[in-house]
Amino acid sequence: MHKMEGPVVSNRSRNVLIGICICFAIVVLLPFSLHSSRLGLTGLAAADTLDSRFFAAGKSFGNHAIFGHMVLGGFLTLLVPLQLWGTLRRRAPALHRWCGRLLCGCAVLTGVGGLAYIAVRGTIGGAWMNAGFALYGALLIISALQTVRYALKNRFSDHRTWALRLFVLSIGSWIYRIHYGVWYALTDGLASTPTFEGRFDLIQNFAFYLPYLVALEIWRRWRKPVVIA
Ligand code: HEM
Repeated sequence: MHKMEGPVVSNRSRNVLIGICICFAIVVLLPFSLHSSRLGLTGLAAADTLDSRFFAAGKSFGNHAIFGHMVLGGFLTLLVPLQLWGTLRRRAPALHRWCGRLLCGCAVLTGVGGLAYIAVRGTIGGAWMNAGFALYGALLIISALQTVRYALKNRFSDHRTWALRLFVLSIGSWIYRIHYGVWYALTDGLASTPTFEGRFDLIQNFAFYLPYLVALEIWRRWRKPVVIA
């Protein structure tokens, strides 16, 4: 009796703990998500009244691309943690599937919007920032497509792997702001310039997602069960 109850109780507490972590993540992501969506919606509705360097008069393609990506990206950042919650996935699989399709669609369009903006206007930081953000966008799009592809093929182990990569990339934009917040609080902006061309800025162009993807791969390999042939 005791032997049977042990794992059940610990599984249940594990699920509750994961649920709490996910709710906490959503609360933490909320301010950035709201900032992004609000800026994007204002930009789409009345960009000419907005004092923003992302608005260029008469260049509606670039305006729509950047402000649209902010709206969808904000939505993606906020809701992507929910997809990782096993309890919700098991209890409401249809919700998981529809939410997943919606979020993967948002991820692709966010990436496409960002890439289109880079192509027509470029970033404030120049070539290295263009490269870092373009790679970020490409990886986000690939991860979203792979996540859906493997789900449709019922290859759930691969689906999970790509979904985790997609999660890391989806919160990458928030991580970027956290890195800057912490760095400015600690160093008052050492090696960072208003045009994002300082040494810290150059590293940041890739450091908000690549190290986290590497950490995820290390974690995946570390916890993989050893298969004896
Ligand atoms: C994942 C969700 C994302 C969110 C929530 C998001 C949000 C934002 C926001 C709010 C800004 C305006 C700057 C600011 O207020 O800090 C911005 C700028 C920008 N984002 Fe995103 N973004 C996301 C993903 C992406 C992706 C995947 C790309 C790459 C293709 C991208 C490319 C850009 C570019 C190029 C800029 C302008 C950079 C500049 O010149 O300052 N974003 N983003």
